[in-house]
Amino acid sequence: MDKHDNLIGGAWVGADTYGENRNPSNWDEVIGLYAHGSSADAERAVEAARAAAPGWAAATPQARHDLLEAVGRKLAERSQEIGRLLSREEGKTLAEGIGETMRAAQVFKFFAGEALRVTGDMLASVRPDIDVEVTREPVGVVGLITPWNFPIAIPAWKTAPALAYGNCVVLKPADLTPACAHVIARLLDECGCPPGVFNLVMGRGSVVGETIVTHPGVDALSFTGSVGTGSHIAEVCGRLKRKCQLEMGGKNPMVVLNDADLDVAVSACLNGTFFSTGQRCTASSRLIVEDGIHDAFVERLVAGMRALRVGDALAPETQIGPVVDGKQLDSNLAYVDLAGKEGAEVIGGERLELATNGFFQAPALFLGTDNSMRINREEIFGPCGSIIKVGDFDEALAVANDTEFGLSAGICTTNLKSAREFKRRSQAGMVMVNLPTAGVDFHVPFGGRKSSSYGPREQGRYAAEFYTTVKTAYVFAG
Ligand code: UN1
Repeated sequence: MDKHDNLIGGAWVGADTYGENRNPSNWDEVIGLYAHGSSADAERAVEAARAAAPGWAAATPQARHDLLEAVGRKLAERSQEIGRLLSREEGKTLAEGIGETMRAAQVFKFFAGEALRVTGDMLASVRPDIDVEVTREPVGVVGLITPWNFPIAIPAWKTAPALAYGNCVVLKPADLTPACAHVIARLLDECGCPPGVFNLVMGRGSVVGETIVTHPGVDALSFTGSVGTGSHIAEVCGRLKRKCQLEMGGKNPMVVLNDADLDVAVSACLNGTFFSTGQRCTASSRLIVEDGIHDAFVERLVAGMRALRVGDALAPETQIGPVVDGKQLDSNLAYVDLAGKEGAEVIGGERLELATNGFFQAPALFLGTDNSMRINREEIFGPCGSIIKVGDFDEALAVANDTEFGLSAGICTTNLKSAREFKRRSQAGMVMVNLPTAGVDFHVPFGGRKSSSYGPREQGRYAAEFYTTVKTAYVFAG
């Protein structure tokens, strides 16, 4: 069985222990062995990044561009093979796996361009004969901690801007899905990334992650994952006066008004709620439906949901792959159980026994729910959606905003006034009109409000806010 090592200071470094990366479509299949780095490995990686930081900060925009462009090109060229690996380790369908790999390629190419476009401002001082110059500099060493549900896109959308703006990186991918991050590390190495500029340390969050989070040599931390871990990171960063960027949970509402186009609404909700097995922080989990369209919408949605084909991620007919692991499946099933106990009518949601030893679950809809139920307050992170019936637009908006989260919010309507009003009054970072709450572009800001996000936005040119620090220089020519 192939052993995959960490990349530290330009060298591939083995570990005392390796974790088995297993396929959630068939848990008997081990995809590969991936190093479980130690705390000392994480420390060495931070030190290597520190040592490389002055050189990379001084590298020309051309050098940074060329590296990112080359990685983007290779990701695109090999998207079939890498997408397949992604689907085997994470369980999303092959089409989604290839699509996500292409998104990672586009992210690298986008930031290759951004490396050439780092701008500043030149102003006259309010005092005579003085010029003011505002420039952007790299932050230094950034720690990147990424989740299992987008194993290539999220490492890409943190690594590419970090490098484009001249920072050195220590990346720790989720222990459940290290293979795609390992591919990124290999490609960066192959494309001539200087030693120490990019370091990969795989392993446990409690060991590798914690060392990166608390290490004094790290200048900034970007994290995507659970609210619990994110809150811990925010506290540590607050104590150490360190910049951080956190993307955490969602409980995203999708409003369906009486005047919605039924086909558009049903397809947006099927996609947003169930695709990628509901394992997206942008998934629609609360479907807030106006009473006039409620019955027709629910009937169509249930029919659409029941027709979704759940199965092996690589099978061409599969639309919904497995849940990522047994722990997540148990948690999903417990929420299905809770939905019934809280008084919802539960449709679907049962564990499915298919030909292989995978974590398959039928998509679930909870009917007749209200927004105070735990199933509507807590993020489930599985193929489950609730229907909340409301009387009018104002009630729909109030319910949509009544949540501790604020990542993405959607509305299906053919009325321009309602769409505009929702866009303006939604308390979410991203608003979708007649589109699923999930599935975002790679070149525009991504992020939310309230407990969903903390710190500057990711992606697009807004990424510069996090990955650079501003310097204001005053010059008196004498
Ligand atoms: C998407 O909806 O296309 O972890 C991206 C997540 C998000 C990414 C969602 N950070 O689900």
